[in-house]
Amino acid sequence: MQEITGRTRILGILADPIYHVKTPQVMNALLARHGVDAVLVPFHVAPAQLATLLEGLRTMQNFGGFIATVPHKPAMLALCDETTPEARHIGAVNCVRREADGRMVGAMLDGIGFVEALRASGVEPKGLRAYLAGAGGAASAIAFALAEAGVRALTIANRTRDKAEALAGRLRHVYPTLALSTDADRVREQDLIVNATSLGMRPEDPPPLDIAQLESRQFVAEAIMDPEMTPLLKTAEARGCRIQRGLPMLESQIVLMARHMGAL
Ligand code: ATR
Repeated sequence: MQEITGRTRILGILADPIYHVKTPQVMNALLARHGVDAVLVPFHVAPAQLATLLEGLRTMQNFGGFIATVPHKPAMLALCDETTPEARHIGAVNCVRREADGRMVGAMLDGIGFVEALRASGVEPKGLRAYLAGAGGAASAIAFALAEAGVRALTIANRTRDKAEALAGRLRHVYPTLALSTDADRVREQDLIVNATSLGMRPEDPPPLDIAQLESRQFVAEAIMDPEMTPLLKTAEARGCRIQRGLPMLESQIVLMARHMGAL
């Protein structure tokens, strides 16, 4: 980390709990690498105090913006003065820029970070058939980003099928020509398979999809950042599939978030 002086811009990450976040190390290393005079620090704030904190941050003139993470992303949407279309479609904000006049501009970069990481691995989603396991917060962001990137078809598979149907309904509203399905059994016909459920965090978790249907021509990506290799990725790799771990998604997001906060 660079020396902090009176000229250093302050950035934050808001979470509750906060102890586990890895973003400060990753972001501060990125800022140092680029010689940017800014520092990102953790802010532990409870949901009930979020609005009060935001009012304070509006007044802090050397404050550049913040990253919002669990559980603050949905609540942040209504607290910002301005939001991007992605944030409004997904119903959540994960990064906020403080303008010089104190206005707060919210974006949702989770899904865009995922797509950027895919592209960095040489996979262009446009025209692909994609299978997404999960219909929660991470999955919604990835679903909208894949739709925006031009996938040909998107299957959303979720334990609670109603949530998959609801997400498909929201996507249909914005992307009326996208072929959508919520049939969890359609793994084999896909080009791109993404796990955005929380299954895989623990080694004893069952696989998030029918791994018997995986084929070597498929690309399998993981939204879980920890651990490095989930059981799904290990199986996919053993089958000869190309794979993407969760960490590149975080790295892409960090760059996008630094840009949104005006630090890069
Ligand atoms: P995140 O913000 O990380 O996406 P989330 O919104 O709580 O977290 O979503 C968690 C996702 O993992 C959901 O798709 C959830 O399925 P349900 O909608 O049915 O709850 C999925 N998930 C979590 N635990 C699961 C389990 N044991 N089996 C199958 N799916 C699970």
